[in-house]
Amino acid sequence: MKSPCAGLLLALLLAAAVATPAAEHAPGASAIASAHPLASEAGNEILRAGGNAFDAAVAVSAALMVVEPSGSGLLGGGMFLLHRASDGRNVVIDAREVAPRQASRDMFLDAAGNPVRGASTNTALAAGIPGEAAGLALLQSRYGKLKLAQTLAPAIRLARDGFDMYPRLQAGVGGKKAQLMQSAQAAAIWFPGGQPVPVGARVRQPQLAQTLAILAKEGVETFYKGAIAKQLVDAVQKMGGIWTLEDLAAYRAIEREPVVGRYRGATIISAPPPTSGGVALIEALNVLSGYDLNKVDGVTRKHLIIEAMRRMHRDRAVYLGDPAFTAVPVQRLTDPDYAAGLRTSIRLDRATPSAALESAPEAANAGTNTTHFSILDKDGNRVAATITLNAGFGSGLMIDGTGMLLNNEMDDFSIKPGVPNIYGLVGASANAIEPGKRMLSSITPTFVESPRGYMIVGSPGGSLIIGMVLLATLDFVDGRSAQEIVAAPRIHHQYEPDTLTYEVAALTADEVAELKRRGHDLRARDSWGNLQVVIYDAATGKVSSASDPRGVGTAGLY
Ligand code: DON
Repeated sequence: MKSPCAGLLLALLLAAAVATPAAEHAPGASAIASAHPLASEAGNEILRAGGNAFDAAVAVSAALMVVEPSGSGLLGGGMFLLHRASDGRNVVIDAREVAPRQASRDMFLDAAGNPVRGASTNTALAAGIPGEAAGLALLQSRYGKLKLAQTLAPAIRLARDGFDMYPRLQAGVGGKKAQLMQSAQAAAIWFPGGQPVPVGARVRQPQLAQTLAILAKEGVETFYKGAIAKQLVDAVQKMGGIWTLEDLAAYRAIEREPVVGRYRGATIISAPPPTSGGVALIEALNVLSGYDLNKVDGVTRKHLIIEAMRRMHRDRAVYLGDPAFTAVPVQRLTDPDYAAGLRTSIRLDRATPSAALESAPEAANAGTNTTHFSILDKDGNRVAATITLNAGFGSGLMIDGTGMLLNNEMDDFSIKPGVPNIYGLVGASANAIEPGKRMLSSITPTFVESPRGYMIVGSPGGSLIIGMVLLATLDFVDGRSAQEIVAAPRIHHQYEPDTLTYEVAALTADEVAELKRRGHDLRARDSWGNLQVVIYDAATGKVSSASDPRGVGTAGLY
């Protein structure tokens, strides 16, 4: 499994050392935590112009597409978890991509039934019908106070006038060179004169500025039914893809009820299928509710968290998929009694081998570059949004003339039972490819409400996301600060492979030895994740926010 969000321990430690302390200030404050300072600033600009958190979310999303183009894009998708203060409504805008109508279950397999290397990640066939533009338009029109023309303006400016190249982006661009170079325009943006843009030099994306300006002026119709739709279909088909005008015209962003669970007096509000995130998070918290994690010793606490992660990921692999195509047993999986049953197989002194759990009948997918932001406005409206092209820069294939990159979200389907996706995740027929179906996701935009107040949280990281939000939730319930939550070292287990991965700082040598003794297979790996946290403290009315020190983002209070 590749490191989703690169960085060696040293980098982690350095980043942690220079991280800005979490800001805190008085009631009525707004907060934005995002993966790039210019995106947070774009959101702030919109708040200052009288926009609410939902307007700011459109501005932040659009700005991220420009300044962190590896993470998300108009040809990608995602989910936006919203809380509207005026009536307390929690809702999810599902802007997940769907499989084109000509997609088929075995489309990434050769005649012998073996996966064709790179087909579900590097080709135009890897692109699902995008949901991002539809999601933003829905968010804007139904929940915002302003118009797209206003909320897209900061992103248009950033694309047109440019921003400074930074090391993390430069590294990402370098990693995707072969794909990006297939487009003359992408080559001109990222490798002018054949050389990578130096750190500190200006990156301008005039075609993307133009596309965003068209969207601002003409509205989302043009994207799914108008001139842009035609341009997209022509280009994708020329590249060997199977998008049609009908596919684009049929796309709908969907409003969904969040999934809700409880953990030690806290209420968890998270995203439902077609992401596995919320269901798996609640299942794991239900499992952990049967223990007092603060009364057991440190290594047992970690052992139990890992055993809960193992079981949530096993159920993810077996049961989760697009609810329009497969009956996902959400009630059962999030039922505390079901978790009680799972607990009976957990031993305190021994790891449960994944193979000893009833196995996934088939195998599925998970994630490497994506982005999350958390917003709270002065009125108490909240947004937790995770948006993605799947891998860094998606497939890296640009639609010439538009500045937009194709997603490679089709790899989030289970392309063949038992075959892991780029995140090493396995899945089942619940997540097999079918025309018009949404591919299973791991994104986990979440609100945690408790007597302490509430937290707005989420992260990129593919298969690692759910576990990160789980750890953040446990830390929030334990009273940790926003800065402590984002900086805390991480542990992870995803059922298959049956390995406990950890950031070096997460386990002491004694803990490593003890976990090995209990039967865990351990592997240290590079740091991961880019958690963005906003916390409202009910007792003081204070707002605090923090951006993961592993990334380059900022958490601002406004
Ligand atoms: O939806 C998903 O689960 C993946 N496409 C997310 C990918 C991801 O988070 C990559 N992050 N580093």
